[in-house]
Amino acid sequence: MSVRQAFIVYCHPSDDSFTRHVLDAFTRGIADSGNGYIVSDLYRMGFRTDMTEKEYLRDAYYKNTPDLADDVLAEQEKINASDAVVFIYPVFWSEAPAKLVGWFDRVWSYGFAYGDKTMKTLDRGLILCSAGNSIENLERTGILESMKRVMIGDRLKDRVKKAEFIVFDNTSRENEMRETYWDQHLKKAYETGRHLFE
Ligand SMILES: Cc1cc2nc3c(=O)[nH]c(=O)nc-3n(C[C@H](O)[C@H](O)[C@H](O)COP(=O)(O)O)c2cc1C
Repeated sequence: MSVRQAFIVYCHPSDDSFTRHVLDAFTRGIADSGNGYIVSDLYRMGFRTDMTEKEYLRDAYYKNTPDLADDVLAEQEKINASDAVVFIYPVFWSEAPAKLVGWFDRVWSYGFAYGDKTMKTLDRGLILCSAGNSIENLERTGILESMKRVMIGDRLKDRVKKAEFIVFDNTSRENEMRETYWDQHLKKAYETGRHLFE
């Protein structure tokens, strides 16, 4: 079977984090499956995530002009060279971190992700996020559904053939369950990487 590639968009400001362990376990799983991956580490790259006025006007007026910034083009090339796109991040204020939201503002540009689009349809879309809250709390408040709708229903939508949203819950430092669930969560991250393309 041919080697498949996952493009991972990783967004956490610190290596001293549970989310960093999720990235490491997940990529170990992909490597053990014989497949490959590339990572955009948004904070490390210093990826600019606020739109310029020019970028805004290009998208707002649906102008498919060939003047996208080099950093945006590089991200789009990574997507089109891959079979899966994976987002790994902590939940901040019931959303992805602002840096990842801004990544969508710029990289999901008109003519690439919508309109007469050049973005390929990927086989898999996957979200792995860590949350301080319990999954029960996120479900009861409707926040889990809202996060899924935004990430899968809008941002991934028909840009992937199959999408999945996985939450590693109870991971805030003041929650004693952080230690209890640590190994179990990382095993799931590893197994998800191992079986990503099955
Ligand atoms: C600025 C900030 C906002 C957060 N907002 C939420 C939130 O809305 N819901 C939630 O469940 N956890 C929230 N958390 C908790 C983080 O998701 C949690 O601490 C993180 O997943 C733990 O993993 P880490 O060690 O990788 O940071 C927030 C944390 C920070 C720092």
